[in-house]
Amino acid sequence: MNLPVRLRRLRQSSAIRRLVRETQVTPADLIQPLFVHDASENAPIASLPGVVRHTVDSLLVVCRELAELGIPGVAIFPVILPERKDSLGSHGLAEDNLLYHIVRRVKAEVPELAIITDVALDPYTNHGHDGVLTEDGSQVANDETVKLLCRLAVNEARAGADIVAPSDMMDGRVAAIRAALDAEGFTNTMILSYAAKFASAYYGPFRDAVGSKVGKGAISKASYQMDPANAREAIREVLLDEAEGADVVMVKPAGAYLDVIRSVREATRLPVAAYQVSGEYAQIHAAAQLGWLDYESTRDEALLAIKRSGADMILTYFAKEVAEEKMRKAKGEKSKTLRGSASCCPGLG
Ligand code: PBG
Repeated sequence: MNLPVRLRRLRQSSAIRRLVRETQVTPADLIQPLFVHDASENAPIASLPGVVRHTVDSLLVVCRELAELGIPGVAIFPVILPERKDSLGSHGLAEDNLLYHIVRRVKAEVPELAIITDVALDPYTNHGHDGVLTEDGSQVANDETVKLLCRLAVNEARAGADIVAPSDMMDGRVAAIRAALDAEGFTNTMILSYAAKFASAYYGPFRDAVGSKVGKGAISKASYQMDPANAREAIREVLLDEAEGADVVMVKPAGAYLDVIRSVREATRLPVAAYQVSGEYAQIHAAAQLGWLDYESTRDEALLAIKRSGADMILTYFAKEVAEEKMRKAKGEKSKTLRGSASCCPGLG
């Protein structure tokens, strides 16, 4: 055939494929979400294979390992004992609660990690909502919730969080949190806004992990999180949060919203984060357990697609293992090189 353009030339060997590869996921792109609970043993989470609720000591060990692997940040989620929860999420204001305690410890013991904390009431409320309810209990109250979120954000910053991440989807919370942080002198504390957070079924395993399942027939999280059908509205959310002072905007979930990540990337110059959420992680594990998908390659392809769509950073439960594999590979290649050079240059290495 007379075919001057043959794109397969670009795919003929691993070396050439590596040279023309447009996108790479590196440990520096990844943020590890971690769960911590008030108990003496780590506890597995059935719907999140390989993820545990850590004890304080175990979480500190993992944070040290993550830093050594080159993971720049962790997002820490507390699992609060049911007896500490109430309808107002009051325990969020207790400055000695589990989250503030662990943040102080991580900051002191692994200072090179960026610590991200959610700003939302769901770990602390007995109804599982991200805010407080109106008097008649029919809605999550926007403005009252924003006031509480400001206090949570300030507590988190005081404990040592580098980045506070409002995940509640109340209107006006980014500006209010920025003002509250600045008023307390936390002008360097960043705001990573869950700007386009969709009311998604993919959060199921996370709610198992922290015990924040909202009962059937109760208020729906769809009354504050976005409709999965809406992409234009996601841009409105992002531009508003940018104008209110967000430092980074996030799209969540990631895999089913790659179009949104791409259009957010084009609509703003802010760094864009994407959260590959619990259900995305769980479904890859489930299919692999059944022998229906290859675990590593599906995982890597899912992360690559999120990066390719325009995310600068990815929150993913796979962060640590991906970084470990990169490290193992790098070591393997290095030891080979050393062995090779030893024969030509004895005495070196
Ligand atoms: C809470 C919060 C949720 C997630 C992160 N922060 C759940 C929710 O909104 O119900 C989900 C993360 C995941 O599924 O991995 N505001």
